Amino acid sequence: MRSTAPTRGARAAASLLAGAALALAACDGSQATRTWQPTDHDQPVRQQGNAQMPAAPAQSANADMLVSFTWERDCSQCHGPGGRGDGPQAAMVHAPDLTRPEWQDAVTDEQIAAVVTQGRNKMPSFDLPPRTLQGIVRKVRSLRRGGPR
Ligand code: HEC
Repeated sequence: MRSTAPTRGARAAASLLAGAALALAACDGSQATRTWQPTDHDQPVRQQGNAQMPAAPAQSANADMLVSFTWERDCSQCHGPGGRGDGPQAAMVHAPDLTRPEWQDAVTDEQIAAVVTQGRNKMPSFDLPPRTLQGIVRKVRSLRRGGPR
C-alpha cells in the first residue's frame, strides 16, 4: 500500500508514537494479521522506512505504552484521562463515567470490547489490533473507582 503523506498538520508526537506502534505490530507475527491503518484513526501517520527502527527490547512495556497512547488519543477526549466522563468533548456527547463500580460489575470484558470495536450512538468504533484491544479492555478495568478488582 502506498503511504499517505501527512497532509493535514500531522501531530509530530502522534506520528512518532504511531511509528513505534507500526514497528511493534510488525514484530508481532503471532497476532497482527492486519496492521494499524492510518484511516482507522484519521491519522496520516504511515511512513515508509520503519524497517530501520530497532526491534523492541521489551515488547510488553511497549504494548503498555501503545495502550496508554491509544487511550489518550482515542478515548480521553470524551471519557477523560481517568475515565470519569470528563474529557473536553464529554458534555457534547454525554460520555459515560467508566469508573462506576456498578457499571464495571455489570459489564463483561467482551461487552467492553464490543462497544469499542462496534461503537454505539455517539461512541465511535475503533478498529484496533487484537492486542491493543485487549490492552484497552484492561485499561478500562483499571479505571474502576477504588482500583481494579
Ligand atoms: C466522541 C466521544 C467518544 C470517544 C472518542 C470514545 N467514546 Fe466511549 N463512549 C462515548 C459515548 C457517548 C458513549 C455512550 C454510548 C451510548 O451507550 O449511547 C460511550 C460508551 C463507551 C463504553 C460503554 C459504556 C457503557 O455505559 O456501557 C465504553 C466501554 C467506552 N465508551 C470506551 C471507550 C474507549 C475505550 C474509547 C477509546 C478507544 C472510547 N470509548 C472513545 C463517547 C466516546
